[in-house]
Amino acid sequence: MGTIESRTPLAEGRVTDHGAQVVAWRPAGSEPVIWLSRHAVWDPGSAIRGGIPICFPWFGPGRSGEMTPAHGFARTAQWTLESASESDGVTRVVHALTHEQASSPRWPFRYRATATVILGKTLHMVLAVDNMDDRTISFEAALHTYLAVGDAPSIVINGLQGARYHDKVTGSDTMQEGPVRIDGEVDRVYASTATVEVHDPVLDRTLVIKKSGSASTIVWNPWVEKARMMTDFGDDEWRSMVCVETANVGDHAVILAPGEVHEMSVTVSVHQ
Ligand code: BG6
Repeated sequence: MGTIESRTPLAEGRVTDHGAQVVAWRPAGSEPVIWLSRHAVWDPGSAIRGGIPICFPWFGPGRSGEMTPAHGFARTAQWTLESASESDGVTRVVHALTHEQASSPRWPFRYRATATVILGKTLHMVLAVDNMDDRTISFEAALHTYLAVGDAPSIVINGLQGARYHDKVTGSDTMQEGPVRIDGEVDRVYASTATVEVHDPVLDRTLVIKKSGSASTIVWNPWVEKARMMTDFGDDEWRSMVCVETANVGDHAVILAPGEVHEMSVTVSVHQ
């Protein structure tokens, strides 16, 4: 599995060809910001538990609820490394994936996806999808960002107040009142374009997740029972992570005319 490792005075990070997935990032002077499971499986065809998996062209089981593999074919595909460079301590890695490399009979369109990762004092990632087909296409996508936290039940997630969300745990639709807290299994799809802040009193820092081209934010923590059920996730690891995902899913799926390009991006920064 090809990987690009970068170590500069500004940051350390790692991006794999498998899924064009960021699997590590830590700006100088900080504890790791991107979380990776101790039990992650690194086999071709498997999803790597942690980092920033790219979910495309559907999210979870898709809008029909029947699509496989979960979260689309992009995160388990081998992407092509287009370029990797470093300038003034900032590393830039570009991967591409096309319909010739990864596709599905259930999503049989011609496309070109480009994942650009910029690792420096901040982490910036852009997913650009180009509709190469002669039909209008529709797709879901997520930058499924696993963030490292000191102790999940103690974090306070701000920025989603007032946003409507679908609760995948209870099946209900409701509005967020106050900050989000991890006090049980949390699996929520918010309709929100807002910047999210994860205040972490244990690591004494705030992670800021700013996005563009994204109308959905997913917040996920499996909590105790679900963590036990996942073979690539340690029983106690739910305490050390939370996912805040930059996405366009469900009613906010992207609709793209032939020849159009859609860009979705996230910037993660650490405030100590
Ligand atoms: C989240 C979903 O984005 O990803 C959850 O909202 C899901 O429902 C989680 O459990 C992990 O998915 P997976 O396929 O990586 O186990």
